[in-house]
Amino acid sequence: MTLTNRQWLINGRPVGRPLVDDDFKLVETPVSDPGEGEVLVRNLYLAFDPAQKGWMENVADYVAPTEIGEVMRGSGVGEVVASAHPDFAPGDKVTGMLRWQDYACLPGKDLLKVPDDDLITANLGVLGTTGMTAFFGLNKIGKPFPGDTVVITGAAGATGSVVGQIAKLAGCKVIGVAGGEAKCRWLVDELGFDGAVDYKAGDVRKQAKALAPGGIDVLWDNVGGAIFNDLLGQLATHARVVVCGGISRYELGKMPAGPENYFNLIFRRAHMEGFIVLDYAAEFPWARRRIADWIRSGRLHFKEDVQQGLENAPRTLMRLFHGENFGKQLLRVR
Ligand SMILES: NC(=O)c1ccc[n+]([C@@H]2O[C@H](COP(=O)([O-])OP(=O)(O)OC[C@H]3O[C@@H](n4cnc5c(N)ncnc54)[C@H](OP(=O)(O)O)[C@@H]3O)[C@@H](O)[C@H]2O)c1
Repeated sequence: MTLTNRQWLINGRPVGRPLVDDDFKLVETPVSDPGEGEVLVRNLYLAFDPAQKGWMENVADYVAPTEIGEVMRGSGVGEVVASAHPDFAPGDKVTGMLRWQDYACLPGKDLLKVPDDDLITANLGVLGTTGMTAFFGLNKIGKPFPGDTVVITGAAGATGSVVGQIAKLAGCKVIGVAGGEAKCRWLVDELGFDGAVDYKAGDVRKQAKALAPGGIDVLWDNVGGAIFNDLLGQLATHARVVVCGGISRYELGKMPAGPENYFNLIFRRAHMEGFIVLDYAAEFPWARRRIADWIRSGRLHFKEDVQQGLENAPRTLMRLFHGENFGKQLLRVR
């Protein structure tokens, strides 16, 4: 029987504007048998990251450029249905760059086998790139000390919520900045953050100052823009500023001038550094084991927001830019 593959192709470059439906095109193609060394995977879940918009724009130089007409890139977990690679057999669960489609045919070397257990989707979030971003960005650049005050923007998101919990494990006081009461309540009541700032409810500077009167020792930024600028004005001496992302900038046509409060880095003798999680890829395995231990022992929690149906993949990516996701944005393919 010939299987049919639904595939979402890149059909536009959303530079300087929000994503629109026409940036993607749905096609159907027959599924081919795996060639030598290849594995045919039925995609089960896909993961969504703000960076995928940047990949479509070709603004990121840490990944190969995308082409109009290529199958949209995205990581996923799936089940092997046929294998011409000695390390993989039908039924194995795997993760990799499976892309937005029902079936992926990939060289076995580009796939990682994952345990078929209750953490299978976590391989796309807290045990995947998201968790690695939080773990290495915080430990290598933020360098938290017990007693430090750590402030995180985008705190209720997939990455931010893990950063905050690792900072709590390191003995820090943790304050999250998020949009809306429900997300802020979740940070404090369920994740054990010491406070939360609702940036949609009022003055970020005032709220943050009340919660961190001694200043911010580690500032983790996922959003950029005015929120980041407000917090830069409240650094403590020898603060570390971790620039992870800037989602408020990702849809802008013209970039705003740099944050006016950057000069506070001088007064506070502070350090600001950006990073790409892939820089730490060689160290992922031990970090993954560490995070899995924290999850199994109930010391680290994670939330997933699972949408349904491959046909909804473009709209699922758009959710990230409207703050509609509550937890790691995933999609169940069927
Ligand atoms: N440097 C790296 O290697 C690396 C790796 C992975 C991710 N990242 C970055 O990390 C950040 C978080 O990614 P994620 O995958 O964990 O996504 P996420 O935080 O789960 O989802 C994005 C969140 O951003 C917030 N947001 C959207 N537009 C905003 C705006 N204009 N102003 C303020 N907040 C806004 C929304 O939360 P609210 O409802 O709270 O507004 C939304 O839920 C992104 O900037 C991403 O690019 C960097």
